[in-house]
Amino acid sequence: MGALATSTLTYCGIPLPHAASARTTQPLRLLGSPCGMRVGFAANLEHFRWPGFTDFVTSNFDLLTPEGEMKWSALRPAPNRFDFGPADQLLAFSQRQGMAVHGHNLCWNTGNPDWLKSVLTPRNAERYLTDHITAVVSRYAGKMDSWDVVNEPIGLWFNRADGLYGGPWLDTLGVGYIDIAFHAAAAADPKALRILNIHNVEHGDAYSEKSRQAALALITQLVARKVPVQAIGLESHLDAGRALDAAALTGFIEGIRSMGLEVLVTELDVNDSQISGTLAERDKAVADMYAAYLSMVLPAMNIQRLIFWSVTDKMNWMDYMKDNRWRRADGLSHRCALLDANLNPKAALYSCISALQQVCTQG
Ligand code: G3I
Repeated sequence: MGALATSTLTYCGIPLPHAASARTTQPLRLLGSPCGMRVGFAANLEHFRWPGFTDFVTSNFDLLTPEGEMKWSALRPAPNRFDFGPADQLLAFSQRQGMAVHGHNLCWNTGNPDWLKSVLTPRNAERYLTDHITAVVSRYAGKMDSWDVVNEPIGLWFNRADGLYGGPWLDTLGVGYIDIAFHAAAAADPKALRILNIHNVEHGDAYSEKSRQAALALITQLVARKVPVQAIGLESHLDAGRALDAAALTGFIEGIRSMGLEVLVTELDVNDSQISGTLAERDKAVADMYAAYLSMVLPAMNIQRLIFWSVTDKMNWMDYMKDNRWRRADGLSHRCALLDANLNPKAALYSCISALQQVCTQG
């Protein structure tokens, strides 16, 4: 890690582009540890083939989330068949490195294998959901830090009065699909933290506010029904073109914590689709958004886990999205991550380092 080990300045094995940028001494995970926080990252197997990726993540993080390998679409090639191969490989890597593993995810109304919709009925859906969660969670019991038990329960664009995200589980089981999923996960591994992973709640505009209200209403019902949810994950796919509202965000976090639940950040990155200008200008807007967000949420959370979704811009997920929210007018690739596509550190990395230093080291 010594930045001065060679004549080229490096940070955690990555050459630094400009000597003036080398204003850090410690990896992210060590910056998080004074406040008892694990700092994690998402990756799929492909990422580990890229030179420099493994060095960077093993230096910087102590928690791994498989980006796709634990989803239904990966684990369930056919109704009666499981494929645990890729997920097992990521788990074995994490164990060798002494990293915790955050599982993503056990139940989602999208991202499912094509066969699911054609077999699911109101009569058999509970059995499919329970059997899947029991099989997956039992297999990894004792090895997982946490699970996104239900992913993205709120989706305003479905235009339902309750704001719920539509899809096969909601259609067949109603909102009770969430109860079923959490009870099955708790039975199969009582020790892994059980998370309801929510999105679109982070910004200061009316859309985020409406999502926050729908999320709070749902969480209130789940707590009243004694559903064994333990934590709320804020995905935190931020948008550099949309403002934050500190009071609204921290009020939301405090509202969740007042119901006895933990709050964590599960998928942090920054969309720069609406930011024009030079690369440096775009990178600054992204870096500022990372720093502003972390300095708002970390003090308000019961900080235990902070997970970065995009480590590098290389093949980032935003470039593959069809929706206008992720379409850049200039057609260029997004600059959403901590490192650029050549795995060089960007301003985003330094702003996260500063934010963690301020909150955890000096806080
Ligand atoms: O890599 C291939 C590329 O070779 C191919 O040309 C291209 C054609 O579509 O696909 C590329 O892979 C895509 C991959 O994203 C790129 O990162 C897959 O099709 C696409 O399905 C995949 O999407 C994933 C998405 O979830 C759906 O499962 C993203 O990797 C993943 O980052 C994203 O993660 C979600 C979380 O699970 C839930 N929260 C939101 C988050 C971001 O959308």
